[in-house]
Amino acid sequence: MKKKEFDLIVFGATSFVGQILVQYLWKRHGMNGDVKWAIAGRDPGKLDLLKNRLGEQARELPTLIANANSEDELQTLCSKAKVIVSTVGPYALYGSPLVKVCAQTGTDYCDLTGEVQWIARMIEAHEETAKQSGARIVHCCGFDSIPSDLGVFFLQQSAKVQYGEPCQQIRMRVRKLKGEFSGGTVASMINVTREVAADRSLAKKLANPYLISPSRLAARQPNVKFAEFDPVAKSWLAPFVMAGINTRVVHRSNALQNYGYGKEFKYDEAMMTGNGLKGRLTAMGLAGGMAGFLIGAALPPTRWALEKFVVPKPGEGPSETSQQRGSYDLRFYGTTSKGNTLVAKVTGDMDPGYGSTGKMLGEAVVCLAKDNHEKAGGFWTPASLMGETLLARLQQHAGLRFELLPA
Ligand SMILES: NC(=O)c1ccc[n+]([C@@H]2O[C@H](COP(=O)([O-])OP(=O)(O)OC[C@H]3O[C@@H](n4cnc5c(N)ncnc54)[C@H](OP(=O)(O)O)[C@@H]3O)[C@@H](O)[C@H]2O)c1
Repeated sequence: MKKKEFDLIVFGATSFVGQILVQYLWKRHGMNGDVKWAIAGRDPGKLDLLKNRLGEQARELPTLIANANSEDELQTLCSKAKVIVSTVGPYALYGSPLVKVCAQTGTDYCDLTGEVQWIARMIEAHEETAKQSGARIVHCCGFDSIPSDLGVFFLQQSAKVQYGEPCQQIRMRVRKLKGEFSGGTVASMINVTREVAADRSLAKKLANPYLISPSRLAARQPNVKFAEFDPVAKSWLAPFVMAGINTRVVHRSNALQNYGYGKEFKYDEAMMTGNGLKGRLTAMGLAGGMAGFLIGAALPPTRWALEKFVVPKPGEGPSETSQQRGSYDLRFYGTTSKGNTLVAKVTGDMDPGYGSTGKMLGEAVVCLAKDNHEKAGGFWTPASLMGETLLARLQQHAGLRFELLPA
């Protein structure tokens, strides 16, 4: 294949999270280092402002203009880079033409989507084309779903070494999560509820844990929907808002690694709220709050009020101080078929959705562009395509830690 001008292009560089990603790549790789990269978006003025904020030297950072709706302009982007990383969202509204063009032109691609209904549509429409062209498409390279996907990958590698078999069940429990939402993320969540309101059959599809897996397995999956006590984590639990995407990605990773976690593998995610009456009441409050938000977002009048008065607007998000003060701590409780147990802890040093997500996406796109994966084209997951190499990058550069705890 003809050598391309850039290793990677950041498309949507002016988005809230795109700006964090650009700052990260700028600090880590600069302009004339080992990674050749460019920024792209639809608005030249906004892209110039972004470069000004990076400083004098960034004025020469290559800049390309493309609209997410123009396949011709997206083709030009693809002709210039090995990988396109996109932060133009909600992806279900703006992201489809780029995935199509990447699949057609054999250009690798990664993004931050958590919109599982859209991923399912992209796989159905473009997987064959990507296999033929050699394009590796990797959705979900942010907080959803890298810590979950690689946390499970890490625990399963450890279980195989320690016990000679993978865990048959893993329970991911969120012990601590400190961070805020941005307008783009809320817009994506509200768009899912809008799609469900318009097409009732979608709710059934979204409930399928194997929605983006090549085949539906017989193993019934646990799912924390209300407040409940977990004797394994010794804590009350509430539903976790990202579980609906993370669990689907983990099951696809299992399938794409030739069912390396087993065909009976069970996986669920929930938030720990502590024990005793306080833990129980907090779990009930969180479960009720989440149900209230989803109902509110599904009904047109309350959705309008939420968008207008309550949630951040697209382009808005947490301050830099708030990103620095954020962090997360996830626990993975694994049990093998013979009853052996193993616990992993995964932590991140900034807020999950922005500071940490920008760094994870930065490492994922450079990993995709520079590390040698020798994998064919198709729709991959972070763990199934980049497993070990991404794990190492995240720990060395992105402030994540993966460690085993005494069981
Ligand atoms: N997985 C995770 O952990 C995670 C974390 C954070 C965000 N996200 C997702 O990432 C996405 C971005 O979030 P955000 O808060 O950064 O969004 P945002 O600030 O609202 O930015 C949206 C971006 O899309 C661009 N855009 C919209 N229509 C376009 C078009 N027709 N052509 C070209 N560009 C177009 C906008 O360009 P202009 O600047 O020119 O308006 C802007 O750069 C969302 O889908 C969000 O859900 C995921």
